[in-house]
Amino acid sequence: MVKLKTRFVCQSCGAAYPRWAGRCEACGAWNSLVEEGSAGGIGAGPALARSPRKGRPVALTGLAGTTEDEPRIVSGIAELDRATGGGFVPGSALLIGGDPGIGKSTLLMQAAAALARRGHRIVYVSGEEAVAQVRLRAQRLAVADAPVELAAETNVEDILATLAIGRRPDVVILDSIQTLWTEAVDSAPGTVTQVRAAAQATIRYAKSTGAAVVLVGHVTKEGQIAGPRVVEHMVDGVLYFEGEAGHHFRILRAVKNRFGPTDEIGVFEMSDKGLREVPNPSELFLGERHAKAPGAAVFAGMEGTRPVLVEIQALVALSPLGTPRRAVVGWDSARLSMVLAVLESHCGLRFASHDVYLNVAGGYRIGEPAADLAVAAALVSSLSSLALPADCVYFGEISLSGAVRPVSHAQQRLKEAEKLGFGQAVLPAGPEQPAQGTDVGTFHPATVADLAVRIAGVVGTPAED
Ligand code: TYD
Ligand code: MG
Repeated sequence: MVKLKTRFVCQSCGAAYPRWAGRCEACGAWNSLVEEGSAGGIGAGPALARSPRKGRPVALTGLAGTTEDEPRIVSGIAELDRATGGGFVPGSALLIGGDPGIGKSTLLMQAAAALARRGHRIVYVSGEEAVAQVRLRAQRLAVADAPVELAAETNVEDILATLAIGRRPDVVILDSIQTLWTEAVDSAPGTVTQVRAAAQATIRYAKSTGAAVVLVGHVTKEGQIAGPRVVEHMVDGVLYFEGEAGHHFRILRAVKNRFGPTDEIGVFEMSDKGLREVPNPSELFLGERHAKAPGAAVFAGMEGTRPVLVEIQALVALSPLGTPRRAVVGWDSARLSMVLAVLESHCGLRFASHDVYLNVAGGYRIGEPAADLAVAAALVSSLSSLALPADCVYFGEISLSGAVRPVSHAQQRLKEAEKLGFGQAVLPAGPEQPAQGTDVGTFHPATVADLAVRIAGVVGTPAED
């Protein structure tokens, strides 16, 4: 008797188990195991059925040698081209992930239209929306006249057969990977096995034909739908489209790129006519400043090679609670605790009976430790109710000893500050001697205590108890 084998696959990490369990042992996710047919195995099921072929030797070569840079497929949307590292690469697969509703389809429709208008053959396959819906969006974006070839289809075999007809497309957009399914495996669409098999088939298509394939993937925080995380290691590049609900701007962030840098971002603003490029993000994030209020400090940050100025807001208020609250939006809460601890032990400032709220303006997220100094300045300013100078920027890392440590790109940060009309900067003394070519007045605190003295004039005695 032939026994039909079933297995249980974790929809969050792809680990397979012979029987169901409440928790995936591999990644620790709860309730993520889903029953799937055995075909496909862990990437090797069908292959095992065939008898193994005898290997054929391949030629080995050295590292030196000439390779030409692939010409990039440039969209002309500068923020998108920047994030991809100079345009789409022929023969590569790119994953664009993000929360549902963030604007992935909008971005890709605009990109498709821009590319098609430049004479590239662009095929846009939507698995989520009917042709009429996609057309409606194109009209709204005022790109309905662009020669984009459109289809609403979810079957990978049918899609690949369609793509084989006529001139090879330059870019194929598949929206989204969760809706695709291939007959090679018998799991339901959206499961890890299907997502992986469908991605594999389309990536193979990209490599063998030289077309650039763009896969759209939804990421849900709960990990309920098989996330594109399992696809991340298969593709050549991964871009995440991020943004805060309630804010209009969106950031396209490269997290993996086999053909370029991964620290680049593209900044967009969602409008009623689609995404607009934001060539100068600092102006966006500093847009609505109320300079006179205590607790606001401007941080001169870097995103990849680009300086970004953003306001950090702190509110320190007496707490009615026994355990005061610490709430952070846009920064690491562990880092806030660290900065608070350093301020308490090295400047004698007391936050123990205060609630502390920290917010990065505009819904922006900061990943750099260089924001420590700006956060400290905002905290001291709010605690002492003394507003910081409106034309001053802050950057620098704070160590546990209270020392202010140098950070990279001081020059560029200062240049951006000057460009936006800032006249002062508080930054670490570093090997990079700043102020060359800029008229920004600089102050170099050696420790956070120096900073606190400058802002509030006094420093309490260090906490003894
Ligand atoms: P969409 O691209 O469909 O998101 P995703 O593909 O990532 O799920 O964008 C959905 C949101 O964008 C929707 O809430 C409406 C908004 N939007 C605009 O604000 N302006 C526009 O011009 C368009 C097309 C969408
Ligand atoms: Mg969509």
